[in-house]
Amino acid sequence: MAEGQVRADGAEGRGAADAPAQEAGDGKGVAPGAVPRVFSGMQPSGEAHLGNYLGALRRWVELQESHECFFCIVDQHAITGEIPAEELPLRILDLAISFLAVGLDPERSVIFVQSDVPEHTELAWIFNAVTPVGSLERMTQYKDKTARMESIPAGLLNYPILQAADILLYRAGAVPVGEDQLQHLELTREIARRWNGRYGDFFPEPVAIPGVGGRILGLDGKAKMSKSVGNTVRILAEPEEIWDRVRTAVTDPQRVRRDDPGRPEVCNVFTLHQHFTDPDHLDDIAGQCRAGTRGCVACKRILADSIDEHFREVRERAAELKADPRRVRAILEAGAERARGEARATIREVRERMGMDWRGAWG
Ligand code: TYM
Repeated sequence: MAEGQVRADGAEGRGAADAPAQEAGDGKGVAPGAVPRVFSGMQPSGEAHLGNYLGALRRWVELQESHECFFCIVDQHAITGEIPAEELPLRILDLAISFLAVGLDPERSVIFVQSDVPEHTELAWIFNAVTPVGSLERMTQYKDKTARMESIPAGLLNYPILQAADILLYRAGAVPVGEDQLQHLELTREIARRWNGRYGDFFPEPVAIPGVGGRILGLDGKAKMSKSVGNTVRILAEPEEIWDRVRTAVTDPQRVRRDDPGRPEVCNVFTLHQHFTDPDHLDDIAGQCRAGTRGCVACKRILADSIDEHFREVRERAAELKADPRRVRAILEAGAERARGEARATIREVRERMGMDWRGAWG
C-alpha cells in the first residue's frame, strides 16, 4: 500500500492507488489494464482555502499523473447549506478557477459541475433504497451540523448517499479526501456492498487517499478550517489579505509575553509553517519559539510570506482565468459531456440489474 493511503475505514491495507489496475478498489468493475479511476468532489462554498488545498487539492494534482481522474464541483451538496441562489453561479466559477489555478488539467482530468449530470441524483435515489437510516444518523458531520437545528432538512441526512452516488456512478476505486470525509467514504463502501449483495457485483468498494497533514485546523487553532466557521485563509488571497488573516491566528496559549518560551508542537502556526515554509528554516523557527527569542507576530509574518510565496503562481493563473470566464465555462461544459457518457453507461447497467429496463424484458 502506498505511503499515506488508508482504507476508508482507517484500516491499513493495499489500496487502489498503487495496486495493478484490475485491483483498483476491490477490483470489481474495473476493466483489466484500465488506469485506476479516481473521483473526488468539493462544495462551491467559494474559493478554496488552505484546508481544502492540503486535505484534497494537492493530492488531486499529483494523482492526475497516474490515474484517470474525475473532479466535481458538488453544487447539489452545497444547497443543503442554504447558499443564496444569486451567489451560487459565482461560487461555482470561483471554485472552478481555484481547481484550474492549482494545476488540475482539463486535458487529463474530467472537471465538471455535479448538477450538469442528472444521473448523480438518480443513483442517489436508488441508493436510498439500500441505505439504513441508522447508518446515516451515525454520521458525525450530520450530528454536528444538525445539533442546534429545530427542523432538519432531509437533504442533510441523505447527504452521504449523494456522495456515494457521485463516487460509484464512475465506479471509482480511490477517493482523495481530507480526514473529515473518511466516515462518509466508509458509508460509501457499505452502500456498494449492500447494493452488490442484492443485485450482483458491480460497484467497487473505494479506498480513501488522505490529504497532507490530517485535519487542518483553522486560525482559531480549535476547529477544523472551514468557511462556515470563518477561520480560513483563501488560497487565492492577496498578500495583504493573507497577512490580515494570519495575524489573527491563535498560537501557544501559554505564550503571553513576547519573550515567553513557546511550544511549537502545540502551536497551529508552527503546523502551518511545516506545510508552507522552506524546510531548511523550520529548525530555526522552532528553536527561536522555544527560546522565546522571536515573538509570535514575527513568526506569523514569516508564515504569511511563505503562504504568499507558495501561491504566487497560482494567483497569477487565477487572474488570467478570471479575465476569461468563457474559457472556464468551455472546460466545464466539455467535462460534463465526458462525465455524462460514463454516467449513462453505469445507470443503464444499474437499471437493467434492478429490473427497470422493462421494455427489454418484455421482448
Ligand atoms: P468539502 O467541500 O467540505 O471539502 C472538500 C475537500 O477538502 C477537504 N477539507 C479539509 N481537509 C483537511 N482539513 C480541513 N480543514 C479541510 N476542510 C476541507 C475535505 O475533506 C474534502 O476532501 N462531502 C464533501 C464533498 C463531496 C465529495 C463527494 C468528496 C461530495 N461528493 C465525493 C469526495 C467524493 C465535502 O463536503 O467536502
